[in-house]
Amino acid sequence: MSRRLSWGILSTGRIAGVFARGLAGSRTGRLVAVGSRTLASAQAFAAEHGGRAHSDYEALIADPEVEAVYLATPHPLHERWALKAIAAGKHVLCEKPLTLDFVSARRVVEAARARNVLLMEGFMYRCHPQTARVMELIRAGAIGRVGLVQAAFGFNMPFDAGRRFWSNTLGGGGILDVGGYPVSWARLVAGAVDGLPFLDPVKIEGAGVLHPQTGVDAYAAALLTFSNGVIAQVSCGVGLAQDNVVRIYGSEGWLLVPSPYVINRDLSPTRILLHRGAAKPEELIVTPDRLLYAYEADAFADALAAGLRDAPAMACADTLGNMAVLDTWLRQAGVVYKDS
Ligand SMILES: NC(=O)c1ccc[n+]([C@@H]2O[C@H](COP(=O)([O-])OP(=O)(O)OC[C@H]3O[C@@H](n4cnc5c(N)ncnc54)[C@H](OP(=O)(O)O)[C@@H]3O)[C@@H](O)[C@H]2O)c1
Repeated sequence: MSRRLSWGILSTGRIAGVFARGLAGSRTGRLVAVGSRTLASAQAFAAEHGGRAHSDYEALIADPEVEAVYLATPHPLHERWALKAIAAGKHVLCEKPLTLDFVSARRVVEAARARNVLLMEGFMYRCHPQTARVMELIRAGAIGRVGLVQAAFGFNMPFDAGRRFWSNTLGGGGILDVGGYPVSWARLVAGAVDGLPFLDPVKIEGAGVLHPQTGVDAYAAALLTFSNGVIAQVSCGVGLAQDNVVRIYGSEGWLLVPSPYVINRDLSPTRILLHRGAAKPEELIVTPDRLLYAYEADAFADALAAGLRDAPAMACADTLGNMAVLDTWLRQAGVVYKDS
């Protein structure tokens, strides 16, 4: 690529640093600026990763050199800052979940369409070749007709009412933080069965256990039923450790994806296990040539370079379908977010 996409990173938390390291190894991008609520944080981040330091988010968005904004604040701030960046004509890669609910997500999607900028929700695993390989296997019939998906993403974070994982005002709880991953995997697989980019479930039966102090879901599970005969058991949590794998069962065998989400934070190969009959599973190795978040930055830039305003790896309609499921699951679990 002759010209690199100029990125600005909005906020300096944990994932912002991980993304910056990925961006540095991307094929297509370069970091030109970072914005933080405090100048000291922006300067420390810039010293480590490069770029100009801005002492607030407005200044980052106004920076004329910034073409694309990577937005990595806690969830309740995504809508406000995505809308501001879009209004300034910037392309936006926004961390998951795009917003707190379907209606606000649709507002952001409509704003991006009206301003003719690219908007993508940061489900990074969608941009990785391992995910593409799993979809190829399903489409090629490697395990026959798919009937069941089991996908979990959960961990046990010690309770701290002030941290974003547990705080009600910071959009805490498992469903919004990590529940979107298993749901999006299930929708991706159900779509692949019919040669579609994704499919939305026709029925959602969810449950959750809430933290007594902040009322966010400590852990939750749901059963998703799709019109094409696929059913999915999904689970998540910030207060319950889980196996964090995806299993896809078909009429002729099953696939185990041991590392389906945070696939490679270094350049080690990853593997998919293909079980057919009683024999030992076949190990299918995928060797990455970039870090996970480099793939994400490149998928975003490639979509832009192709003149697209929707990234094939994670289209806005896909985001809205996912948000609709999360809305229902949150309601069934009894989670209520107070105004943040
Ligand atoms: N795709 C992935 O792999 C992945 C992984 C982890 C998290 N995420 C998503 O990324 C987002 C951030 O997660 P994180 O783990 O990086 O969070 P974090 O470490 O807490 O960082 C969040 C940053 O947001 C800024 N911020 C603005 N208002 C804030 C407030 N009221 N309270 C706390 N921080 C505030 C702060 O940066 P400044 O002080 O610089 O303004 C802070 O460092 C979440 O939406 C999460 O779902 C995605």
